[in-house]
Amino acid sequence: MKRTLVICKPDAVERGLTGEIIGRLERKGLRLVGARLQSIDDETAGRHYEEHRGKGFYGELVTFITRSPSMVLVVEGPEETWKIVRTLMGPTNPADAPPGTIRGDLGTVMAENLIHGSDSAESAAREIGIFFPDLS
Ligand code: RTP
Ligand code: MG
Repeated sequence: MKRTLVICKPDAVERGLTGEIIGRLERKGLRLVGARLQSIDDETAGRHYEEHRGKGFYGELVTFITRSPSMVLVVEGPEETWKIVRTLMGPTNPADAPPGTIRGDLGTVMAENLIHGSDSAESAAREIGIFFPDLS
């Protein structure tokens, strides 16, 4: 089985959309193996988004992801689970995300795009290690 990290971001928790998002993952056929409502602190946000450090949007990104609790998940599926989740999420900018995707159906702006999913098998392993070391 292959695992990936998912974060229902602060906007999703604030808007009461965690059930909707988790339901979509489960209906697709993925299984929850870890779940925790967590206020992500600055240090953890910095580790998680280290690839973006120094970019113009980095400050806004960290302010957003730390502003209120997120629902952090590890989900499991048979093959390429990270890619299945990314397909369900849709593109980064909700304005580009087609209907039927989480960002396409539920979001409007890039800075508040509801969900994070690891972008490769390597990222999944690294990110699960940050949030759920017991599962890595
Ligand atoms: P995520 O990591 O949050 O799952 O999103 P992603 O892979 O689809 O996008 P990524 O390139 O990793 O960017 C992380 C988050 O930073 C914000 N962003 N803003 N203004 C911009 O050009 C810009 N680019 C990225 C987005 O909120 C994105 O989710
Ligand atoms: Mg990313």
